Amino acid sequence: MKWAVLVGGKGSNLQALLDHSLEVGLVISHREGVGALQVAEAHGLAHTTILPGAFGSRAEYGQALRDALERTHIEAIALAGFMRWLDGETVAAWSGKIFNIHPSLLPAFGGMNAVGQALAHGVRWTGVTIHLVDEGEDSGPIVAQVPVPVLGDDTEESLSERIHRIEHQIYGPVLKAFEAESFGVHGRRVIWRHDIEGFEGGRYAVGIDQCDR
Ligand code: GRF
Repeated sequence: MKWAVLVGGKGSNLQALLDHSLEVGLVISHREGVGALQVAEAHGLAHTTILPGAFGSRAEYGQALRDALERTHIEAIALAGFMRWLDGETVAAWSGKIFNIHPSLLPAFGGMNAVGQALAHGVRWTGVTIHLVDEGEDSGPIVAQVPVPVLGDDTEESLSERIHRIEHQIYGPVLKAFEAESFGVHGRRVIWRHDIEGFEGGRYAVGIDQCDR
């Protein structure tokens, strides 16, 4: 399956997806000069930057995204650090085939700076969520979740690092599970048909020892 990965940050998840042998046909960034574009270049991937500021509306930005995605015959889309909402037409064009990874246990701490929000709230557990993308903010059906402990002396940096380690382990396998039709969407629930290694019904069996500093 030919994927586009939409980015805007360091690109560590893009690298992890490549490590899991995802076929990436296009990388689109919403920001210039980010690490993710360097990852794309290093792997010789087709990549482009489409700046939202260059368009008058979310719909026009969506049209530009769709043009690039259609030109490259993209079948499915993975958001990895892409901090823009997709417009309705783009979501509809790849309905049920757009995924996002978010650094919290949704629906807690959606939106920006999920790690900072978790620390500010003093939660003992946060985590990683992979969900399908709809028109809302971090609101689509939840495909897989993994809890990550928050330690007493955590900083945003240390907690982000622990969360990133889990993100890198799970995003590739979950997208591969999608390719293998391992789960299906029923209303706003995602039901796993058969488990893949390490996952039971989208619950990743990660031990606390794998989360340590
Ligand atoms: C990840 O933490 C992801 O959860 C969030 O954006 C970050 C992207 O990091 N949506 P990277 O660019 O993949 O390193």
